[in-house]
Amino acid sequence: MTEIVAVKEVTKTYGKKNEQQTQALKGLSFAVDKGEFVGIMGASGSGKSTLLNILATLDRPTSGTVTINKKDVTQLKGDQLAEFRGAEIGFIFQDFNLLESLTAAENIAVPLSLQGVKASEIKERVEQIAKRLSITEILNSYPAEISGGQKQRVAAARALITQPTILLGDEPTGALDSKSARDLLDTMAELNAEEVSILLVTHDPFSASYCQRILFIKDGVIHQELVRGTQDRLTFYQTILEILGTLEQ
Ligand SMILES: Nc1ncnc2c1ncn2[C@@H]1O[C@H](COP(=O)(O)OP(=O)(O)OP(=O)(O)O)[C@@H](O)[C@H]1O
Ligand SMILES: [Mg+2]
Repeated sequence: MTEIVAVKEVTKTYGKKNEQQTQALKGLSFAVDKGEFVGIMGASGSGKSTLLNILATLDRPTSGTVTINKKDVTQLKGDQLAEFRGAEIGFIFQDFNLLESLTAAENIAVPLSLQGVKASEIKERVEQIAKRLSITEILNSYPAEISGGQKQRVAAARALITQPTILLGDEPTGALDSKSARDLLDTMAELNAEEVSILLVTHDPFSASYCQRILFIKDGVIHQELVRGTQDRLTFYQTILEILGTLEQ
């Protein structure tokens, strides 16, 4: 197994010394192998987004190391950091984060444009990923003209077009109706079957049931790890519900 993400003893404290501080992460360690689909669950405020933002290199840990594709990302700065993020990380947010003044195709193309890829290759790669995510028909539409589920597929296409080392999702189904959520999760499972590595933050047990392994965060540390193994999705869903029940106590 190739380890693509390694998080070691990561802590995150918000706020300056002598001010009110919040210890969001208190020494958290885990690894993700290539091709895994890992879920992160935990109550509101348990540190899920903090962790994902650190993995996305959008924020830095207070202490500890984060290695992605053998690079310690906590040491990267400036242009190097931006370049690394653009090449290695795909990110899908709850609220899509599409640029309203660009068409779907133009939104998807943004990461490649930033890398200076030539127009003819961009066009080809946008068409390819759009086909993969079933959004070919809406490529020339603007975000305001398409549904939430379609918007999230456009965001997923934008995240995947650079063929990142890992796809990170922070509640990507949070703003979707149940049918669109299920479609997106099915697509994520298909992508994962094609070796895309995925880390999904969610508080929804149904979404989490698509993962192969779930890390439960409580009070800034990993409280428990659950492996799906040979369980079918419904059985796994029930197991997740049981654990969430015990976590609340
Ligand atoms: N920028 C910030 N400044 C200060 N405190 C913060 C900041 N961001 C998060 N926190 C605090 O850190 C803790 C963890 O927050 P985080 O957003 O990671 O939780 P979460 O698990 O993603 O919650 P949710 O499920 O509600 O999205 C919380 O106590 C939160 O108030
Ligand atoms: Mg959050």
